[in-house]
Amino acid sequence: MNSLIINNIGKLFNPKENSFGKIDIIENCSVIIKNGKIDEIVGNEIEINAIRLENYEVIDAEGMSVIPGFVDSHAHPIFAALRDKEFEMMNAGMSYIDIAKAGGGIKNSVKKLRAMTENELYKVSLGRMKEFLKFGTTTLEAKSGYGLTLNDEIKMLKVIKRLNETLEIDLIPTFLGAHDIPDEFKDDREGYISLLINEMIPKIAEEKLAVACDIFIEKNYFTVEEGRRILTAAKEHGLEVKIHADQLTCNGGSELAAELSALSSDHLEYISDKAIDDMIGKNVVFNLMPGASFFIGMPDYPPARKIIEKGGIIALSTDFNPGTCYCYSLPFIMTISAIYLHITAEELLWAATLGGAKALGLEKYIGSLGKGKKADLLIMDIKELSEIPYSMGMNLVRKVIKNGKIAECLCSAEK
Ligand code: NIG
Ligand code: FE
Repeated sequence: MNSLIINNIGKLFNPKENSFGKIDIIENCSVIIKNGKIDEIVGNEIEINAIRLENYEVIDAEGMSVIPGFVDSHAHPIFAALRDKEFEMMNAGMSYIDIAKAGGGIKNSVKKLRAMTENELYKVSLGRMKEFLKFGTTTLEAKSGYGLTLNDEIKMLKVIKRLNETLEIDLIPTFLGAHDIPDEFKDDREGYISLLINEMIPKIAEEKLAVACDIFIEKNYFTVEEGRRILTAAKEHGLEVKIHADQLTCNGGSELAAELSALSSDHLEYISDKAIDDMIGKNVVFNLMPGASFFIGMPDYPPARKIIEKGGIIALSTDFNPGTCYCYSLPFIMTISAIYLHITAEELLWAATLGGAKALGLEKYIGSLGKGKKADLLIMDIKELSEIPYSMGMNLVRKVIKNGKIAECLCSAEK
C-alpha cells in the first residue's frame, strides 16, 4: 500500500515553490505518506493518533533530517565503457577537444556502444542506476547520444525504458542524436541532419521512447542554425527541447534555448549577459553542472551568482558521463558548486531538488515535499544544510524513500 509514517524527524528542509533558494524548515516533525504520495507533515509524533499508526509502517528518523530526493536533470548514464585513459591524458595536459580530434571523446563511446547488444548494454548500465540511488538521486534524466544511428539510438532508449521498468529510480529519457556528427557522415553533415529531422525524431517521438530532445551546440559539433532546425522538428513532434550550450565557447545556444522556450539550457560556462536576460524572460531553467569543468580541468565555471541576482532559476546536475564527469553524487556536485559557483547551502538544495524538477518539467510531481507529490525523500545524517556541501565526497544519506517505500539500495550496508 506504500503508506508509512516517518517519525522523529529533527529537521525537515523543504524547498519553497516559486521562490528560488528559499527553504522552509520544520523542526521535530513527522511525514505521513499515503499510497506513495506525501499526505501531511505534522508538528510532532504526538499528533499522530494510535489508530492511524496501526495502518502505517513506521520509520524512526532518529532525530536526523529529511530532504526531498535529489533530481538529477542532466546525465548520460548509458554507455558501453569507461574512458579513464582519456582522463589520464587530460591530466597529462591534453584538452578535451584534442582528445576528441584524436578519436577519443564522444566518438570513442559511439564506437564501443555500437558494438554492444541491447542486453549487454542493459547489464553494464544496471549497476550504475543503483549507485545514483545510494547517493540520494530518486529521479534521473537519461540521454541517448552514443549511438548516432536510428537503431543504436533506439537501442539506448530501449535500455532506459527497461531500466525504468525494473528499478526503483525514475529515469526520464531524452533523445540526443545531435550529440556529434558520426564519422560516416563527416563529409555530409546535411545528410545526418536530414536523418535526425526526417527519420530519427519522428520515429522516437512516435514510439514514445523520449520525452525531450537535446543537442550539443558547440564549435566542432552543431551550429545554432542547425540546432534551430533540429529542435523545431522535435517540437513539432511533441518533444520538449533543451540544449547543451555555451560549454566550451560562447556560442549563442542559450539565446536559441530562450527563442524556442526550452525546458533548460545546460552547462553555460560562457553564457552571455544577453542570453541570461533572454532565458529569464522565457522562464528557461539554467541547468548548471560544474562537475564537468572540475573533471576536465577547465578554469571557467558558469556565472551562477550573476544568474541568481538577475532572478534566474538554477538546477544543478551531475552531467554523469564517461568523458567529462564520471560522478554519481549530486552532494559532491553541491560541494564543487559551493566552492566554484559560490552558491549557498539553501540555494544548492533548491537547485538539486526543485530546480532539477523544473528542468524536467516535473515540478508538479517531484522536487519538494508538498501534499500530493511523490513521496521521494531522504533521511540524511545532518543537523544543518551546510553539512551537505561541506562533507566533501561523503555520503550522508541513511535511507532513501522512493514512491513511499524504503528503497533497497542501502539495505546491504545496514546489515
Ligand atoms: O555534457 N558536452 C557534450 N556532452 C557531454 C560529454 C560527452 C562525452 O564526452 O562523452 C557533456 O559534457
Ligand atoms: Fe551533458
